[in-house]
Amino acid sequence: MLQTVIRAFRDIFPESNEETKLFFSPGRVNLIGEHTDYNGGHVFPCALNIGTYAAARLRQDNQVNLYSTNFPDQPVSFLLDELFYKEKDGWGNYTKGVLAAFIDQGYKIGKGLDLLFYGNIPNGAGLSSSASLELAVSVVLNNFFSLSVDPVHMAKLSQKAENEFVGMNCGIMDQFAVAMGKKDHAVRLNCQTMEYQYSPLTLTNESIIIANTNKRRELSDSKYNERREECERALAALQTKLDIRSLGDVTIEQFEENQHLIVNPTDRKRAKHAVYENIRTIQAVDLLNKGDIQGFGQLMNQSHLSLRDDYEVSGRELDALAEAAWMQDGVIGSRMTGAGFGGCTVSIVKNEKIESFKENVGLLYKKETGLEADFYLVETGNGAGEIFNTENSVL
Ligand code: GLA
Repeated sequence: MLQTVIRAFRDIFPESNEETKLFFSPGRVNLIGEHTDYNGGHVFPCALNIGTYAAARLRQDNQVNLYSTNFPDQPVSFLLDELFYKEKDGWGNYTKGVLAAFIDQGYKIGKGLDLLFYGNIPNGAGLSSSASLELAVSVVLNNFFSLSVDPVHMAKLSQKAENEFVGMNCGIMDQFAVAMGKKDHAVRLNCQTMEYQYSPLTLTNESIIIANTNKRRELSDSKYNERREECERALAALQTKLDIRSLGDVTIEQFEENQHLIVNPTDRKRAKHAVYENIRTIQAVDLLNKGDIQGFGQLMNQSHLSLRDDYEVSGRELDALAEAAWMQDGVIGSRMTGAGFGGCTVSIVKNEKIESFKENVGLLYKKETGLEADFYLVETGNGAGEIFNTENSVL
């Protein structure tokens, strides 16, 4: 893998005396706690061992040259004092956005860079390829310009790039998981306070499987932003009586007693999901920490139902995958993961049933949707950073 990245860098960029360094930034999968981050609730993601590799080198001028092996026909170049969003720069806008966020915060980016990316996250699968790219750029900047930005702050700057530069109003979960992931662990994050705890993910008899609908997430950005607005209206309605900062502050009892304040029935359903999913996430992590994997799995299933019926972000393909999974022997739990409207499900499956799971779920899914699903065994990884490897010395 590293050799491929190094070779590609050499092919694309001319020789230089500057040192080239290698970086890796993971993708993420969320185990439970969906659409809770921007509602001040809890999430429970883990970083994956697939993600974005970056090779980077300083330049003597203020030009930035980007090349991605995933978009070989779309190299992007710009000057550091021309950080404007341009439609034609496509994927390159994420790098521009991160540069702009760092510079706006007062960090000095004194020189241009040559940057090559190689990503092995399946495209449009909802496993956070964009956060992975943003954090790859963040760790490159942090390293080359000796900025000493801590990973949580890098996550926030990357989120700012996505919110303000790219226009996707995402919460903090993806960037946090990508920056702070820890191998063999998932991380419970309170998105209101930014307090977090790692939980070991040492499953002995089970594995975590991601199933990809291979349905691209259409309209996901506009629907996502719409959900945010619905929740904001619901919060404002509850705040007329309750002293709360976010839906993450609301208990089930408070919600049940006061939900009548949310007059719009759609907004009420959205808030119901946000409140129940937050409590479910806290309970699920407690169960996992106690070794109750069955209990964790049941809450995963409930999470999917709530996303399907109350939050309405699943869709035919994700429902078909989850419902097929629930019918299989040896399935502890299964749910959609990420923003929804396509993308992936995440399931916990007994080791001896993995093969039958893939076969049966694949067949049922194809019958229902006409599409082929892909399955990946989850391997967790660490957060974004430089790769220190002897292979590096060949650069
Ligand atoms: C996307 C966003 C996250 C989060 C999830 C839903 O992945 O980037 O901030 O809101 O959707 O849980």
